[in-house]
Amino acid sequence: MLPVVSHATGVYVYDQEGLEYLDGCSGAINVNLGHSVPEVTSRMHEQIDRACYAYRTQFRSQPLMRLTELLVELAPGDLRHVEYCNSGSEAIEMALRLATLIHARAYRPFKCTVLTEEPSYHGMTAGALGASGHPLRRRDLTPLLANQATVSRVRPKHGSLRAGVHDWEAAIERIGPANLSAVLIEPVGGASSGAVPTAPETLRRLRELADQHQFLLIADEVMSGLGRTGRWFGCEHAGITPDVIVLGKGISAGFAPIAALLASDKVADAAGQPLGTVLFGHTMAGTPLSAAAGLAVVEYLKAHDVPAHAAEAGERLHELLQGLRQRHRVISDVRGVGMQMALGLHSDASRFPGTSLDLVEAARREGLLLYPSGVTPALESVMVAPPLVSTDAELDELAVRLDRALTRLSPAAPVADASQLLSSGC
Ligand SMILES: Cc1ncc(COP(=O)(O)O)c(C=O)c1O
Repeated sequence: MLPVVSHATGVYVYDQEGLEYLDGCSGAINVNLGHSVPEVTSRMHEQIDRACYAYRTQFRSQPLMRLTELLVELAPGDLRHVEYCNSGSEAIEMALRLATLIHARAYRPFKCTVLTEEPSYHGMTAGALGASGHPLRRRDLTPLLANQATVSRVRPKHGSLRAGVHDWEAAIERIGPANLSAVLIEPVGGASSGAVPTAPETLRRLRELADQHQFLLIADEVMSGLGRTGRWFGCEHAGITPDVIVLGKGISAGFAPIAALLASDKVADAAGQPLGTVLFGHTMAGTPLSAAAGLAVVEYLKAHDVPAHAAEAGERLHELLQGLRQRHRVISDVRGVGMQMALGLHSDASRFPGTSLDLVEAARREGLLLYPSGVTPALESVMVAPPLVSTDAELDELAVRLDRALTRLSPAAPVADASQLLSSGC
């Protein structure tokens, strides 16, 4: 049975029994600032007393307007058009609606296929799940996922974890570029691949192909957006500007439901009307309370240059995880970017007879929260993605607890402190 949460502060969560858990995966890789940050919660309290709710077609709100300005300022290129909703899944739905309707309105209704990748995860609503390369989550739901006819997926070559330039080119050729409405891609993989990055040259080639064949390049930055990878946006590592960026976890940081779609001038022009009026939306989209939380989060990220801190902390985390890999034969590789990292686990039963869930459970017993990832046994992995604000001491503590958890699975003498891991790292 799950423990009952009592309270949470910084990188620690406590249950009602008084047990302490170091949050090594930021909840669902979303609690980017840690728990109970006064700079955010105080702003939420103020907004609760002022106005929790105003309907998006009846009022604007100061926090939402300011949040929009900030996101536009931070976003690459001319992604100046922002629409809000409550979750990453809903924001992906908005992106899929947008891609479909701009081609339909330009009298190109045949341009309706969305190309995604397997493995990938884009959300649990029907359109987003239908687009996801996640057979496990799609299983038995085909009758509900009506977009299967208009979704195509590219798979990596045997032995590699992400599709490369040639795989994408071949998939686009197969579909016929004239039929393609959008490519939807995670610049850095989340829990489906276990933090496998898309190669920068792949993103750059997709950018070229999108311009050449007039399909949208949609970056799913629900997890990677707003600092997680050590840059504001994951696509910055490849130096490209997508046509649409989808944000979620990074804006809300676990404080209130809010997600967003950012679109370029070209896309907004093609829609013909303000995005809000063509995309429609949800009752609770962008409420003043969610906006106040999102604004406080993004202001905090900016004021403390959290992405730069995440880049540095990510280097230490990577070194610590490499140290663990040298000690524990169940770990096949360490991968990821910035603070979006994962441990790949061997699928060979002689090295690791268990699953990622066994490691997550062993870690929980050692007072450490981790996130299971992977869509097939060959991709078994565990995400290690603590809050971006983690200190060196907190990362060291994470590594020591993880070492103890790994020792439960494959006996080895646990380290006394993290310095032993740092010196053995490669
Ligand atoms: C890359 C990615 N896209 C979309 C989603 C869906 O977001 P949400 O759970 O907020 O609906 C997730 C959630 O894990 C994600 O990691």
